[in-house]
Amino acid sequence: MISALMAEPAAVAKMDKIVALCKRRGFIFQSSEIYGGLNGAWDYGPLGVELKRNVKDYWWHCMTQVRDDIVGFDGSILMNRAVWQASGHEATFSDPMVECLLTKKRYRADQVEPQSGTAYYYKGLTTSRPEPVVALPFAVLVPKGKPEASAQKTARQYYVARGYAETEIVSLDLEKTEQIENSTKFNAENGSLLSEPRIFNLMLKTYIGPVQDDSAITYLRPETAQAMFVQFKNVLDVSQKKLPFGIAQIGKAFRNEINPRNFTFRSREFEQMEVEFFVKPGTGPEWLEKWREERLAWYEEVGIPRAKIHVLTVPDKDRAFYSQGTYDLEYDFPFGVQELEGIAHRGNYDLKQHQEHSGKPLEYFDEETKTKYLPEVVEPSAGVDRTVLAILCEAYAEETIKDEESGKEETRVVLRFAPRVAPIKAAVFPLLKNKPELVAVARNIYKALQPLLKVAYADTAAIGRRYRRMDEVGTPFGITVDFETLEGTKEASTSATGTPIAAGQKETVTLRHRDSMKQERITIADLPAYLLTKVS
Ligand code: GAP
Repeated sequence: MISALMAEPAAVAKMDKIVALCKRRGFIFQSSEIYGGLNGAWDYGPLGVELKRNVKDYWWHCMTQVRDDIVGFDGSILMNRAVWQASGHEATFSDPMVECLLTKKRYRADQVEPQSGTAYYYKGLTTSRPEPVVALPFAVLVPKGKPEASAQKTARQYYVARGYAETEIVSLDLEKTEQIENSTKFNAENGSLLSEPRIFNLMLKTYIGPVQDDSAITYLRPETAQAMFVQFKNVLDVSQKKLPFGIAQIGKAFRNEINPRNFTFRSREFEQMEVEFFVKPGTGPEWLEKWREERLAWYEEVGIPRAKIHVLTVPDKDRAFYSQGTYDLEYDFPFGVQELEGIAHRGNYDLKQHQEHSGKPLEYFDEETKTKYLPEVVEPSAGVDRTVLAILCEAYAEETIKDEESGKEETRVVLRFAPRVAPIKAAVFPLLKNKPELVAVARNIYKALQPLLKVAYADTAAIGRRYRRMDEVGTPFGITVDFETLEGTKEASTSATGTPIAAGQKETVTLRHRDSMKQERITIADLPAYLLTKVS
């Protein structure tokens, strides 16, 4: 019924391994885990929060620091209900939903997998009660060729769940059977009939203040975008920008998803990174193309290659009603090709709605033409959590290697993060824990690097083990203080920076590269500049 169930076993196994690694090493935990969890909510642990922060920081850097035409913004999560009425969310931000009559589980109607087989329709049941015949229609779909007994088993469960004890049920009253092809009326998980689709608003409702009546209703924002539209005029006035210009925001969004699934992919609480890019009327289509290219290049920079992203031109029938053109950037997740980011040409829909509903002018005054108009908007809207998940999936690799000490073959699990998003950039190791001279130098290097970038220090276990543990969390560089650091190098070499290292030179360390496992020497003095260039 859901795409994870349809994925190949190897892909499911890969996803299971990623989920397990995320928990084991502190990337992502289930929210409220000790109370059985909360469906659709996740907590980022010590490494996950670094990874996520690096993704957000790099997006922020690319949008607001190295461009002249975008300014930053941080709107409130709670807004006046009128915002959601004007934007159309209150009336239309909904999914059609069906409910399994047996389990009461809900599914998005458009995600029900078509089923074929023999449907058994029951009028109701005959019981041993004083009024034996009970009219209570139900239907079950079983694969072709299966006996009625399997349909009866499910139907009995349905009647028992409605208060009839097994011992009271004398018989089930079959009305008819029917051969069914590709029907979406039955639950793929148990064959039970599904309810008719009902519209279900995805916004999470809440009340402001002590009185819980209609006048106090508002919603946890389902997208960050609307605050940027309603503050368009204020931001424009203070930043004195001319079109085209954009507003960028990163923040939490909430959706009461019917069916949260695929780890963090579809959550009820998640973060978005959105730009509302305001352009002159008529130029929306060309900016839509520019943003598609811009965003594809950005994903490449955080470790998701162009080849793994599929650009979907969203067909007219599937586009949001306000959109005049949308590209979905989809990533090839282990559970299927799924949306990472939507880039939409929203026309002037939002500004127009807010201008009409608020009665406040939101037009832009064009100095060149001396005219006023509502700009068009192109919106690249990315999910932080989905980007983090895609980065994790892309980075995860298993290799068979020979252990340097024992010579035995073993599996190396490595997260090949792009260094700029890696939670830990470098780990510092003294070769041996019980040699104070090695430990002292290693601690000094660690302390000197700490203010510059996220580093770790590890001195327990054999050096090979320590490298492996750092590979598993995607640390791109290992720095080992060894006897050559103290006594001088055994032979001349070329440093990682390209400068020569003479035989007998002191104050050098081993620099180990995570992906190639190649080791080379570098002077301690060169380490900060070298690492900073590699991770920026
Ligand atoms: N302002 C436009 C907007 O919100 P959207 O396509 O509904 O558009 C944008 O959402 C992005 O937000 C998606 O591409 C996805 O990355 C992320 N997103 C949406 N719903 C999500 C959910 N339930 N869980 C995690 N991320 C979600």
